[in-house]
Amino acid sequence: MASLAIKGGTPVRKAPFPVWPVWGDEEIANLTEVVKSGKWGRLNGKVTERFEQKYAAYQQAKHGIAVNSGTTALRLALTAADVNPGSEVICPAYTFIATASAAVEAGCVPVFIDIDSQSYNMDPNAIEQAISPRTEAIMPVHFAGRPADMDAIMAVAQKHHLKVIEDAAQAWGAEWNGKRVGALADAGCFSFQSSKNINAGEGGIILTNDDLIAKFARSHHNCGRSEDGLWYEHFYFGGNYRITEFQSAVLLAQLERYDELLKIRQQNLNKLDDLLAPIEGIQVLAQDERITSHACHLYIFRYLKDHFAGKSKEVFIEALRKEGIPCSAGYSIPLYRQPVFLNRAFGPRGKSVALPVNYQTFQCPETEKACYEEAVWFTQNVLLATEEDMNDIAEAIAKIKEHADQL
Ligand SMILES: Cc1ncc(COP(=O)(O)O)c(C=O)c1O
Repeated sequence: MASLAIKGGTPVRKAPFPVWPVWGDEEIANLTEVVKSGKWGRLNGKVTERFEQKYAAYQQAKHGIAVNSGTTALRLALTAADVNPGSEVICPAYTFIATASAAVEAGCVPVFIDIDSQSYNMDPNAIEQAISPRTEAIMPVHFAGRPADMDAIMAVAQKHHLKVIEDAAQAWGAEWNGKRVGALADAGCFSFQSSKNINAGEGGIILTNDDLIAKFARSHHNCGRSEDGLWYEHFYFGGNYRITEFQSAVLLAQLERYDELLKIRQQNLNKLDDLLAPIEGIQVLAQDERITSHACHLYIFRYLKDHFAGKSKEVFIEALRKEGIPCSAGYSIPLYRQPVFLNRAFGPRGKSVALPVNYQTFQCPETEKACYEEAVWFTQNVLLATEEDMNDIAEAIAKIKEHADQL
């Protein structure tokens, strides 16, 4: 086999992977219609309402409330679900910061628990020991688009009377035991930010089957108004978290082609699993029959350096990139090591606040292993390539393994 590209050899691949976003005439037609209508906001347009209904139906939920981001969705869902300021909310330590920062914005205290190394989702066995008399909610993340173990999480939640807000920001179309995520618990939140598989630049949605949660989420996102009240009648606290009609127009078009792209990503995810599983030192995440649809936002595998001449994850990633395979190390530190948590900087201008938890003492070994040593990510656009392109990925990894001592 030829020498490594990082050492001046020929890369396995020179062709680029597909770019994101994928868009077409539908986005342009929908946007043009909104521009021409002169109804650019949801207070006078109808496009956002149409998107909410379509998306809620797609995810098998009764209500959808579109908002300006996934973070906003989580923040409002917590409050609408009656999770009180000052309460503790259990989140995985391996997630985007928004899961926890939305809880902080809602006045809550995030308490981090470890992930399961086979799924990279919240470890349900770690929940009970994190529960205190102040705990009011659990926020499982369907990380990478792979549903968390909702059977186990709901069982603990029911036993301890806790609310469950699904962070489904990466999980459009994902299914747990044949049911779409998002309304499996009290509420679920999705993101439509630009890296996401359904994208309008920014945007989010709260889904729920609960009429009361829907009523309050709708009010909080619209200045505390009520659906049957007057424009200048404000019943509850609230802000302007509305999405524009332009975003909803794009989202309607993105949703139309979503299933077609999801199928390609799923085929390639399975193909990659088949190709990478036999390579010693590469561990693909475990199959779970209860996951009946994976949203494939990320493809993640575990890199075990002992099988690669002891070379670090960073060195491996650099070598893989040089072979023409775009990849990343993902999150570099556990969330509890972020300065905002270490310093409890939840006050104005970074002021420390007094909290019942001390993030300096948190330790989640699997999360630390994922961040510092093992997790390697491909973003969803890589999964939009052809099946042959997946062969290039496997070939590049096998090549690096064979020449690992040269790194
Ligand atoms: C797991 C997770 N939660 C929440 C969010 C927040 O979404 P947004 O960026 O739309 O605020 C994101 C995405 O960025 C995410 O990946």
